[in-house]
Amino acid sequence: MCGIVGYLGDKDPKDVLLGGLKRLEYRGYDSAGVAIHDGTTFKRVRASGKLSALEEKLSNESFSGRIGIGHTRWATHGEPSERNAHPHKVGPVTLVHNGIIENFHEIKEDLKSRGAQLASDTDTELVAHLLNEEYQVTKDLRKAVERLIPLIRGAYSIVAVSEDQPNKLVAFKEGPPLVVGSSRKEVIIASDVQAILDHVQEVVYLEDDEVVEVDGTDVKFFSANGFPIRKESVKISWSADQMEKHGYKNFMLKEIFEQPRAVAAAIDPHIDLNNYRVALNRVGFGVDSVEKLDSLNFEDDLKNTIEKLSGIERIFIVACGTSFYAGMVGEYLLESFAEIPVEVDIASEFRYRDPVIPKNSLVIVVSQSGETADSLAVLRQVKELGALTLSICNVKRSSIDRESDGHLYMNAGVEIGVASTKAFVSTLSVFHLFSVFLGRVRGKLTEAQEQEYTQSLVAVPSLMESVLVYDNFFAEVAKTLKTFRGFLYMGRGVNYPIAMEGALKLKELAYMHAEGYAAGEMKHGPLALIDDRMIVMMMVPSDKHYEKSVSNLQEAKARGGVVISLGTGENTELKEMSEHYLSLPKAHWSVNPILEAIPVQLLAYHVADALGHDVDQPRNLAKSVTVE
Ligand code: M6R
Repeated sequence: MCGIVGYLGDKDPKDVLLGGLKRLEYRGYDSAGVAIHDGTTFKRVRASGKLSALEEKLSNESFSGRIGIGHTRWATHGEPSERNAHPHKVGPVTLVHNGIIENFHEIKEDLKSRGAQLASDTDTELVAHLLNEEYQVTKDLRKAVERLIPLIRGAYSIVAVSEDQPNKLVAFKEGPPLVVGSSRKEVIIASDVQAILDHVQEVVYLEDDEVVEVDGTDVKFFSANGFPIRKESVKISWSADQMEKHGYKNFMLKEIFEQPRAVAAAIDPHIDLNNYRVALNRVGFGVDSVEKLDSLNFEDDLKNTIEKLSGIERIFIVACGTSFYAGMVGEYLLESFAEIPVEVDIASEFRYRDPVIPKNSLVIVVSQSGETADSLAVLRQVKELGALTLSICNVKRSSIDRESDGHLYMNAGVEIGVASTKAFVSTLSVFHLFSVFLGRVRGKLTEAQEQEYTQSLVAVPSLMESVLVYDNFFAEVAKTLKTFRGFLYMGRGVNYPIAMEGALKLKELAYMHAEGYAAGEMKHGPLALIDDRMIVMMMVPSDKHYEKSVSNLQEAKARGGVVISLGTGENTELKEMSEHYLSLPKAHWSVNPILEAIPVQLLAYHVADALGHDVDQPRNLAKSVTVE
């Protein structure tokens, strides 16, 4: 979590840092701060709350220096407040940090026993103390960093400056990402490319245990123990234009409306529209670096992918949050189309339960950001255990993407709203085509079936357009919906994960109580929750579960629940039973979840908006969860 930026160059660091932090604010927004050289010293300005509070404080400040560091915080150690805001300064050393220092307690006790005065409750300040101690010995910032690294444990990316070397930035990482962009006139280091793409178009990704030293505009890379290393830069694939709201009230609404395009972009590289067959494009199993994917020969790579997948006997899907619910949909699709046993698990549980991974297992790790700490840890764990791994990521060259054996992409474009929307439907589409592909590789689908299912997927973007019209409906009813005590979302089969996702969206945006349930579980407890202050949102498409779902709906209605149902086409039965009936276009059962996702997102969005919440930056959350 947290976003960090460092700048050294010919522009005004205040502008570059604030611009970069704005782009990184989705990573945390509890407090923000900068330290910018003013000719004699690094002057710190910090503010509690969102970045706008810092902007306000900085509005009358100017700095003569050309170097600075900045931070937007998601609090771990110490409450959100100005005294805990970064940068932290000890002696001549000032630094910003993203991550968690796990030997925090040990370091704190040691520093206290040696008389250190602590000005905050953060783990970061402790690192600043240690770095200062090492700096007093070496009088060189990079060498001090080399001596610091063995003293700290945990997940961190850090950018540091020193009063005595005001032409130098030193950054290093173990865990959370850092990218370095440079030109002849400037160098910018940041937590991700979004903060950089206004300035340079190429970046170097820092790996764990690597250090970058910026001296003027000279950029040098080193291993953690001081050996110079060579790093290649890569072109950034996203453009600054994707980071604009384009007239929408906020990013989330824009991203909801971008979903038809996101689905099209996710499936386009893998489908031959002449014959509706799936051919996974450059998955790159076994390629030693994602940088090489684009130059792979399509036919050779496809052969390799088929060979790798034909030996697979079991699949594990591991992810967190919305990506986990996408994985649950993947389970239904894979078991149905490819007839292969699938287990889906939450990364933070999977990694600590001594998972048994049989031979010939494929582990699919799903992550929009590609940086989620628990998902990344699972990827590393299962690789150790000998599994073949495949990632489904949105952020190319993220840690999960770079470390997995095979690669599929959501291609959703930059997702800024903390609540995931377009990455979710993109992932469902990727799972759909992957399941069809695997079904064919395993000889479980005929060519005609493959074509039928693929055609259904290709039709989805235009069907989605017709569901987006419910935006107006939810804008209207949100005023009433926000007054209810709670929301129960229900579905059966492949629709059940959408109930879970709907409840998550409402919780994170509207801060209201919501639960997602498999409709068949209602009688086993949750039915007791239902009364006339409870909204029951039910996915009831015309699929094999229809009749049973209708019975569940009756049961909810009989107990006073206020029903919103999502069904297929004109359906008088559902209309009569529901307070509101939303008609979805007729589609194959396997793509219904993609269509159902839109109303559940719009409901959460509009209820949150009606409650006056910041939907792009819900309280207590951050987009990229890089700590456990
Ligand atoms: O980047 P990831 O897909 O790994 O993120 C996983 C979750 O943190 C994420 O989906 C989270 O649940 C979203 N805020 C949900 O909208």
